[in-house]
Amino acid sequence: MGIPDIIIAVDGYSSTGKSTFAKLVAREFGFTYLDSGAMYRGVTLFALENGMIGADGAIDTEKLLPAMAGLDLHFGADGLQMGERCIEKEIRTLEVSSHVSPVSAIAPVRTWVDERLHAFSAAGRVIMDGRDIGTTVFPNAELKIFMVADAQVRARRRYDEMVAKGETPTLEDVMKNLQERDYIDSHRETSPLRQAEDAFVMDNTHMTLHEEVVWVLGVIQGKFGLLEAPALSC
Ligand code: DC
Repeated sequence: MGIPDIIIAVDGYSSTGKSTFAKLVAREFGFTYLDSGAMYRGVTLFALENGMIGADGAIDTEKLLPAMAGLDLHFGADGLQMGERCIEKEIRTLEVSSHVSPVSAIAPVRTWVDERLHAFSAAGRVIMDGRDIGTTVFPNAELKIFMVADAQVRARRRYDEMVAKGETPTLEDVMKNLQERDYIDSHRETSPLRQAEDAFVMDNTHMTLHEEVVWVLGVIQGKFGLLEAPALSC
């Protein structure tokens, strides 16, 4: 018997490696991967491109919220799309990163994203990462994982990722952005980042990706009583 058709919710602070882990698990175990943070980033890009975020960072919700009725964000083969346009690269810039937390703190934006996440997950067998997946989006997810890692290690990972994409941030700026987002994400009124009571905690500060997959496989086997493990290719 293989791994059942469950929903796996992966939550945690920024740059704890949630998406890398979730993508790998999806590939290894035949799940659909959904990146909920990309949706908030997509809304943020839309707001920036349409002049709905001022130079002072103020968000014009009176314009943004009604305009979202005509916004089409969905996942295509290469990541997030806005209509026909692939925006996977644009949503990862430091500019989007520095505005996304306040945008994601707006309650109607969260409702809009949650509705779409549910629709995208209708077929099941999904692994989704974010901040409130196990607490709000899928409180009944069969498996919840909460990822943590040392802040210095997280900043370094995000920095290396950005440099690899041709950006030129300073490590200091990346660290500052990370700390600001940690604070806003865990202190906002609507759906703050917190560990679900029934989540398994993974501290991956010193773990390799292979060790992460072996870890989750052990958790799944224990939780669902699977005697046989699928062979891993990673
Ligand atoms: O995972 P990420 O860094 O791409 O997420 C971008 C932002 O979106 C993050 O700062 C907080 C927000 N977010 C959220 O509020 N809830 C989620 N489920 C996912 C992301």
